[in-house]
Amino acid sequence: MSKSKKTAKTKKTAKTKKPKKIEARLSSIHGNGIFATEDIAKGERVIRYKGALRTHEEVDEEYGGQEENGHTFLFTLNDTYVIDANVSANIARWMNHSCDPNCEAVVEEDDKGRPEKDKVYIEAIKDIAKGEELTYNYGIVLEERHTPKLKKLWGCRCGADNCTGTMLQPKR
Ligand SMILES: C[S@@+](CC[C@H](N)C(=O)[O-])C[C@H]1O[C@@H](n2cnc3c(N)ncnc32)[C@H](O)[C@@H]1O
Ligand SMILES: [Zn+2]
Repeated sequence: MSKSKKTAKTKKTAKTKKPKKIEARLSSIHGNGIFATEDIAKGERVIRYKGALRTHEEVDEEYGGQEENGHTFLFTLNDTYVIDANVSANIARWMNHSCDPNCEAVVEEDDKGRPEKDKVYIEAIKDIAKGEELTYNYGIVLEERHTPKLKKLWGCRCGADNCTGTMLQPKR
C-alpha cells in the first residue's frame, strides 16, 4: 500500500443527496471499477468518498515504511486529514483514475471551518450512459521528483486518447 494521496479542488456549495446509480465490478482499466447502472446527468453528485478519518502523520506512520507500489486508497481531505479507504470505506474506493474522466472529486468544506467535518464527493462532469465506467483524475502529485521510474510505477492504463501514461500530475 502506498502512502501517496489523491487530491481534489475545494468547493463550498452543498448539493442535495441523490440515490446511487452505480455498482462495482471488474474493470478493463484496473481491478475493480465503478459502473453506471442508470444514466447519470452531468452535474449529478454520485457518491461520497468514505473511509476512516486520519491525520497525515498517522497514515504516513502506518504506510510510510511500505515500498511504493502505485496503489492507494488514501485521499487528501485537507492539510490535516486524510480519508483512509482501506478502513470503513464504501464502494467509491473502487473508482479508477482516467486522463479523460467523466467525474471529478470535490472537497466540500465545512461551513463552520471544522477540518474534520470536510467531505469528499464524486460528481459527474459529463453525461454518463448506463454501463459506462465512472472515473476521475486522482490528482496525485508526489513530494519527490517525478522520475521516469515513478511515472512508470504510477502508470496509467485508462486508454483515453489523451492518456499521459501516468497517473502522476504535473507539479505546479
Ligand atoms: C482506489 S484504487 C481503485 C480501485 C482499483 N481498481 C482496485 O481494484 O483496487 C486505486 C488504484 O487502482 C489502480 N488504478 C486506478 N486507476 C488506474 C489507471 N487508470 N491505470 C492503472 N491503474 C489504475 C492504481 O493501482 C491505483 O492506485
Ligand atoms: Zn490515462
